[in-house]
Amino acid sequence: MTRRVAVFEPGGLSRKELRALRRAAAEPSADRRDTSKRPERNLPEPVVPGPFGPGLADHGYWNLAKTFIPANQATSQQLAGVYPFVADAGLGHRGPIVGVDLNADALWHFSPWEAYTDATERGALSTNVLVLGAYRAGKSAAVKTLVARSLAFGHQAVVPSDPKGEWVRVAEAIPGGVVIRIGGGSGARLNPLDRGPRRSDASDEQHEKMVRQRRITTLVSLVEMALGNTRLTAVEHAALHEALERSIRITADRPTLRDVYEHLGNITAERTDARLAEGAVQPRFVLRRFVDGDLSGLFEDESTVAFDKDAPIVVVDTSELFARSELVAQLTQVCTTAWIQAVISDRSARRTRYLIREEGWRDMTSLASLQMFQQWLKLSRHYGISNVVILHKMGDLDAVGDADSKERNLAYSIVGDIENKFIFRINHQETSSLRERLNVPASHVEDARRLRVGVFLAYVGQFAYVVDCFATSTEWEYDLFTTDEAIESASVDDEALSYLTQEDLDELWPEPVDTDVAGWLSASGKEQ
Ligand SMILES: Nc1ncnc2c1ncn2[C@@H]1O[C@H](COP(=O)(O)OP(=O)(O)O)[C@@H](O)[C@H]1O
Ligand SMILES: [Mg+2]
Repeated sequence: MTRRVAVFEPGGLSRKELRALRRAAAEPSADRRDTSKRPERNLPEPVVPGPFGPGLADHGYWNLAKTFIPANQATSQQLAGVYPFVADAGLGHRGPIVGVDLNADALWHFSPWEAYTDATERGALSTNVLVLGAYRAGKSAAVKTLVARSLAFGHQAVVPSDPKGEWVRVAEAIPGGVVIRIGGGSGARLNPLDRGPRRSDASDEQHEKMVRQRRITTLVSLVEMALGNTRLTAVEHAALHEALERSIRITADRPTLRDVYEHLGNITAERTDARLAEGAVQPRFVLRRFVDGDLSGLFEDESTVAFDKDAPIVVVDTSELFARSELVAQLTQVCTTAWIQAVISDRSARRTRYLIREEGWRDMTSLASLQMFQQWLKLSRHYGISNVVILHKMGDLDAVGDADSKERNLAYSIVGDIENKFIFRINHQETSSLRERLNVPASHVEDARRLRVGVFLAYVGQFAYVVDCFATSTEWEYDLFTTDEAIESASVDDEALSYLTQEDLDELWPEPVDTDVAGWLSASGKEQ
């Protein structure tokens, strides 16, 4: 490096004086030379003096150069600037404790409503939560933990369809918890066309639209599902609509599936409009199943159970019906979810509620039901509802429509739009869809492959956290939330086996190595 020296020469000097001045400036000055000694810099003397350090004496390492790294002291605030990605400040301390934030090494508190009302950059714009992860990754246990600890904060939990009956134990363990058992001779009946609580304030146009849409969507979904997911024709649609309108009129806004069934019959019998009469035939056959078929006594008349607004937790146990067949399971879920949505769409309740959808996509097969769900997710904030949608894999959505169909894309966009996400351990097959559909950064996706049971990546608003939920479990919670005995061994085995796809096996298999001596020799020869 060249050293430049600027010298300001005073005027009026003789040549001799100038030369002397320049010579003096060009010489490195004594005080500029580094003369500092170890003791002056407060450093300890080396144990073994000399340039070779201790190594020469005892055959250890040796080092020719003296280290010149002075000790540094800084405040933690300065260090946070120097190492900005090592520790996080955490999400704060509002809402119940859900687990331990492994980055901040602090307790992680979460409440979707607190996050929603938080105006700082840690806040979120929505109260809904997507929970995604492989089987047995701890999703249900974590949601149960969140819910059970939220009860003390006055939030209510509602499970519109509990296919495995695993929430029943939770509801029974909580004083005041309500279980509505559907099927199995319980006699409980839910009317999926219920209007829900009448609004005390002036009728809200959006709410009315929602009620109307929920009813027709429920009917259309039931019929389309029962017909093997074929789309209804315009005429069939019109016939259902007409029958629903008539029964709303005649029953003073208390329609039931039985009424709609009968009005479909009238439309066929009247034959005032031959096309409409024809369109009423198929839907009527489907609804017959509810009126005097295998599903009779469950959904076709007025509800026999009321929704308990004050209960801390309400669970609709559908496990008996889910055991019957896939179609019955789907139809049941449409009915119970429609009823629950109707009865909790109530702003005047002034209550914040979790709506937990286990097996969230079973009833999402038609475009109408997806659009309805999308609107529901948007409106629920308005009703103080946090939808917790539990998905085993993004591939669950592949049951919706055909590849690249409008339905499937809508399903993906609905899931992608849920702002808060809890991502548990995922399978290898999920990595690309997590990146592409949920915009999870590649490094996070890699982390998600290796998470322990009960640990999840939490995305709240714009921030991400690594949370160990089980680290804070109490024994009472563990005994209550564990699903080990509840799961039949057959289904566990199937699930365990389905983890290992061909791709997984290929990944585990070592690269083929040529163990032939000649091969080794030729391979190493080539390298040289
Ligand atoms: N608090 C806890 N501490 C440790 N393990 C737990 C706890 N709660 C549940 N588990 C275990 O975690 C496993 C996964 O639970 P689960 O929530 O049913 O998974 P998922 O809903 O993702 O299929 C079960 O084997 C269960 O016993
Ligand atoms: Mg589960």
